[in-house]
Formats: sequence, C-alpha cells, structure tokens
Amino acid sequence: MSNKLQEIDTKSAFTPFRGAGGLVGDAVHVFAPATVANVVCGFDVLGFAVNEPGDEVIMRVTDKPGITISKITGDDGRLPLDPAKNTVSVSVQHYLDSIGRADIGLDIELHKKMPIGSGLGSSSASTVAGLYAIKTLMRDDRDPINLLPFAMKGEEMACGHGHADNVAPALLGGFVLIRSYEPLDVVRLPHPKDLWCAVVFPDVDVPTREARQIIRNKINMKDAVTQWGNIAGLVSGLFMQDIDLIGRSMQDVLVEPVRSMLIPDFYKMREIAMSNGAVSFGISGSGPSVFAFTRDEQTAKAITEKLQQHLTGLKIGSNTYVSTINDAGPRVIPT
Ligand code: HSE
Repeated sequence: MSNKLQEIDTKSAFTPFRGAGGLVGDAVHVFAPATVANVVCGFDVLGFAVNEPGDEVIMRVTDKPGITISKITGDDGRLPLDPAKNTVSVSVQHYLDSIGRADIGLDIELHKKMPIGSGLGSSSASTVAGLYAIKTLMRDDRDPINLLPFAMKGEEMACGHGHADNVAPALLGGFVLIRSYEPLDVVRLPHPKDLWCAVVFPDVDVPTREARQIIRNKINMKDAVTQWGNIAGLVSGLFMQDIDLIGRSMQDVLVEPVRSMLIPDFYKMREIAMSNGAVSFGISGSGPSVFAFTRDEQTAKAITEKLQQHLTGLKIGSNTYVSTINDAGPRVIPT
C-alpha cells in the first residue's frame, strides 16, 4: 500500500476503471473500525483506528438499478433509510458515478455497533464500511486510499465539514497524518506496538457539527508555537517509539480548553486516568468520548473501570473499550 496520495483527481483516477464485478446476487459483509481523531494536539490532522467498536455493512447486488437501504439496526431510528440522505449510500453513489457504474442495483443493510455522536468516528466507520463493500463487490483491487475522497464527502454530509482524520484511519488502519488537505496528502505513521488505548464514552450527546462551531477561529502565536511543538513531538515520539515523548506531547492549548466544557467532569477524569498510570489523556475527536494511552492492557482496563465508576457516581452511563491500534482497517467478514 502506498502511504501517500497527492492531488487526487477523482475523475481521472477512476475513469479507466470499469468494475468487472457487481453481478446480480453478489453480496459482501464488511466491518470498519471506530477511530480516535485529533489525538489531542492534532486537530483535524491526526487520527488512529481501534479494534473495537466498529460498524458493519451488508451489501447485495440487485437487478433493479439504484441504491436501497433495507435495514438499519443499532441507531434507535436516528439514521435515514432514504438513500439520498444517508452518508453510506451517498458516498457509495459518488464512487459508482466516478467509475461509470451508476446502472448497478444495490441493497444496503447498516448495522451500527457503536453509539452515534460519540466522538469515535461513528459516521466514518459506516461510510468506510460501505465504500469497502462496494470496492470489494466491484473487484476494485486498487489501493483503498483512492476511496478517501468519497469517504470525505460522507463526512461533509454528516457534520458539515469534510475532515479526514476519522475516515482516513478507518479506511487505511493504523495511525494517520493528514499532512495537507489541498492538495490531499495523507501519511501513515508508525507507532509503538505496545501502545494501548482506553476509551470511555460517557452517554451524553455532543454532535460534531456543534462541537466545531464553538472553536475559536483565530489563535495567537504563543499558542500556535506550543501546539506545533507538541504535534512535532508526538510524531517524533511515534517514529522513535518513545512513549514518554508521546505522552508529554499530547497537550492541546487550542481546542480542548473549549470542548472540555461539553464533557462531564473532564479534568477530574484526566486526574483519575493520569494517577492510574495513563501516558496521556484527552478528548476523542469532538467528544464526548475520552481516551488514554497506556503501556499495557491491564492499565488500560483499570483506567476504564475507574472512569466508568466515576461517571456512574455522576449518574452518567458509559461504554468502555480497550484496544491496541488497529493496523488492518476495514475487513470482509466471512459469511
Ligand atoms: N477533527 C474532527 C473534530 C474530528 O475535532 O471536529 C471529529 O469528527
């Protein structure tokens, strides 16, 4: 897999490909992972995939041109079945248009296995599962990175902005840097294999669209210097496998001070995580999920338990997940 994509021109990238697959009756079941975007200091430019949770799509080729969504589970009725309004079908339609196969008939089932509005890249996981499913059905063996522009369209529809720090790691797996948006330039980063991630999702709603609106548009030079020092420190720590450097670089003076207000007892949760052995702690994506890096699974589990206990004391329900960084990205589930 190439690491880098420069100036993707989706039309010219896809015109030569006219999928050989997509025969009526073909079907595929795909899983795509949740992601932690921003990674504290890298607003809109850093993200990584986790092993769980994730969303699943079952896609079948039908004999009636056009896309239908026959079933969505796990969403409490919040997501639209209308294919013109659902991010999965819209991004799949963009892909089909780009390869000249708008003639095909598709039926989609979406199985949400993670909370919506959680800060874990819920819409990205669904969109990437859908795109990986159509890529598989069309026997399109090109690098998955070519699906990124379509996934970003889904993200734009879901939250009003086409950022890539959830969709890129969901699609490519691993730890990803969006070096540039214009032109799009995406770099997969190495990471220490023994880095564990403890994720806690407090059951409060923080829509990404709103969490983006409260961020300051202008920043001062002193804060900018702090922030880019930290981003460079984090990326260096990933390359050098230096977990201490990773930990001390994960500080955010730009976004976290504002968004932390949307998260119940954020600073107390940080104190609990750090005093129980976390390497670092912060908001996952736009929240309300929070995450900590640790050096082992046991510490990650202990931190999720302590944070869950704390939230229970505040009468807030929560879900917890413990994972290493998922280098595989989306995968076909054998049927
Ligand atoms: N970078 C995005 C944000 C991730 O923080 O708004 C959320 O989808």
